Amino acid sequence: MLPADTLQHTFPLDPWCIRETSFDTGSNFLDETLFALGNGYIGLRGTHEEGYGGPVGTSREGNFLNGFYESEPIQYPENAYGLARTNQFMLNVPNLKGIALWIEDECFDFMAGSLDSYERILDFRTGQLLRKLEWTSPQGRRVAITSRRIVCFDNKHLFAISYEVTPLNFSGRVWLVSALDGVVKNLEAGDDPRVGSAVSGPSLEMEDAQQWAHFSALVQRTHNSGFKLVSAELSGMEGPHELRFARNGLRLEQSYAVAAQQGQTVRFHKYGVYYSSRDYAEDQLLGLSKEALSIAQAQGFSALAQRQEAYLADFWQQADVEIAGDDALQQGIRFNQFHLLQSVGRDGKTNISAKGLTGEGYEGHYFWDTEIYIFPFFLYNKPEIARKLLDYRQAGLPFARERARQMSHAKGALYPWRTIAGEECSAYFPAGSAQYHINADIAYSIKMYMEATGDTTYLLQSGAEIVMDTARIWLGIGSYNRDGAFVINQVTGPDEYTALVNNNYYTNAMARMHLHYAAAIAERLQNQYPQDYARIAAAMELEAEEPEEWCRAADLMLLPYDQRLQIHEQDDSFLSKKVWDFANTPKENYPLLLNYHPMVIYRHQVCKQADVVLALLLLSDQFTAEDKKRDFDYYEAVTTHDSSLSSCIYSIIASEVGYADKAYDYFMETARLDLDNTHGNTHYGVHTAAMAGTWMGVAYGFAGMRVIDGEARFAPKLPAQWQHYQFRIQLHGCLLQVRVEGEQTEYRLLKGETLELTHCGKRVQLVQDAPLRLANH
Ligand code: BGC
Repeated sequence: MLPADTLQHTFPLDPWCIRETSFDTGSNFLDETLFALGNGYIGLRGTHEEGYGGPVGTSREGNFLNGFYESEPIQYPENAYGLARTNQFMLNVPNLKGIALWIEDECFDFMAGSLDSYERILDFRTGQLLRKLEWTSPQGRRVAITSRRIVCFDNKHLFAISYEVTPLNFSGRVWLVSALDGVVKNLEAGDDPRVGSAVSGPSLEMEDAQQWAHFSALVQRTHNSGFKLVSAELSGMEGPHELRFARNGLRLEQSYAVAAQQGQTVRFHKYGVYYSSRDYAEDQLLGLSKEALSIAQAQGFSALAQRQEAYLADFWQQADVEIAGDDALQQGIRFNQFHLLQSVGRDGKTNISAKGLTGEGYEGHYFWDTEIYIFPFFLYNKPEIARKLLDYRQAGLPFARERARQMSHAKGALYPWRTIAGEECSAYFPAGSAQYHINADIAYSIKMYMEATGDTTYLLQSGAEIVMDTARIWLGIGSYNRDGAFVINQVTGPDEYTALVNNNYYTNAMARMHLHYAAAIAERLQNQYPQDYARIAAAMELEAEEPEEWCRAADLMLLPYDQRLQIHEQDDSFLSKKVWDFANTPKENYPLLLNYHPMVIYRHQVCKQADVVLALLLLSDQFTAEDKKRDFDYYEAVTTHDSSLSSCIYSIIASEVGYADKAYDYFMETARLDLDNTHGNTHYGVHTAAMAGTWMGVAYGFAGMRVIDGEARFAPKLPAQWQHYQFRIQLHGCLLQVRVEGEQTEYRLLKGETLELTHCGKRVQLVQDAPLRLANH
């Protein structure tokens, strides 16, 4: 394996794509992540169709399906009651991309002959991965190859490849071998908890293989989770050709032979689909696969490519963030938004994993990253996807209830810290299951959704039940101390370098918000929708006095504050610990988690990521400006930002408290975190929370946006390095464009009749077609 810090790639600063102009084995592993394609269900790493014969450890094939997982018992050498029992991990599924190119008796190989020209582009507007190259074989035959790949946004099961070969200095026999490769296995994790699953060996059992005409399919089944999967491809070549089949174990091949003429292009295409029993009845899978493939072939690659572009035009029309004057950031933010769109599940059964669908890091698990980091981007840009993310949590409610019982809570629901299908998969509880704040994070996202959309139907259908049932857990784990304050002991907050503490500030403050919100919902429903209230209360066996108990606990919640330093304490003991010896910690010892036993870290004042500082953002109106500044100063000095979730939050608060340079630097760190591989592990997958943190960095950070009680407030600032920036948000069915230029901000209502907002403390009313330009002070 290459040391992570050698994995770097410098791309030209193109605002709408990433482009590489040379083939480099040194950055290949990383490039496979960066050039990955996905559509929220299928994720294909940016590996080459022809395979890769480079040095060992410099490539990792990866084809993933969101939510398609295997499960395995978690082995604990020392057991304890209530530990998570089963891990679920995203499976590496058969590779349908493979195309081998033979010219007479020579096989195209990046490592042989000479690569005369090479260019690969991931285009955020077309959604295509385009590769063009010219190659001279060891015996001197020259070919030009152009391949295009798309993973269709409008059909989650489908991807397509167009592959063209032109003989440049010869006429002769060209073979294209289209492969379906079922020999796949998952990565093994080693010592790094952020890498892959601890499972080795193949996970898919073979049930059937089919091959005829231009079609191949593998029918497989997972050992433990019991899902059936059909991976199928249909290929074709224009013009006269000879076709042969071959099967070698789990590898199915169709070879197309053609007598190619110098200067004439051989055109080949291939469509791939995946269908699993997570979505359909088992006996439908093959039929659905064939049907989807024939439709795709009838439509053809160009039509699919046009549809892809149209889908993306619509996406960018809404979601584009324009940053003028900073090409590096412009490229970074669009790259991030594109990958978010590629990663997010949108069928209500799947979610968005920490690494999207680009690698096996964190095993394809979904975390709180969704609700606190990623949700806002979708809520304000694609609310229909945000809604699907909420539906996913609704689907997980039965598991959350079961988990609550395992954790000795007689009532209520406790969501898992990390999961795919809904069961808790966290095998290290101090930095996992102990993060009870997940419940409040989910309630927070529902509150955000309700405030932005006013979607009462959703509230009545599922939102209210989730918020109320999860709120009950706070009463289950909290209690009143001798002074009558409500305390929450033995939890872990967002900062994973501090574990199992009493009264983590973030947790208590978010629990207070959650309890108040749950009580407010109960009151609203009782008054306005008594029948729905009765139905929901019956379903969760809610007792009449519970909402009052929620209010009381919330009102009396202990929120640790240090009078001497005048800062919020991260928890009861944090400030009494020894500060980490940063001055004598060599650079190579970061991230600390890879170099120190957890207990060594836990004993110190050192944070992996924003904790109190995150509360300053989420509960913004509950703090004074002075408190925010003092908290920022204090916690910044003890934070390593070893988690990729940290810099964006520090950027936002830096902006708010007036540290313009820091705001910019932290933003830069977040916006190009994967492109520049600053955390050294992007080869295992992109960091979706940080990617969405970039959007928050612009909207919440530089534009100072906060939506409080449904009303948007802005306090825009223009970083000195930029000429202007612009973004759009959807709020209450309106579409608002915010453009910050010079000392002014222009608000333009693109959709909707009127919208009230607050600009730098002043309330204004906006009407359609009458943009307002206001000074930024
Ligand atoms: C962070 C967590 C996060 C997880 C997945 C960890 O490094 O500390 O807050 O949920 O990564 O992104």
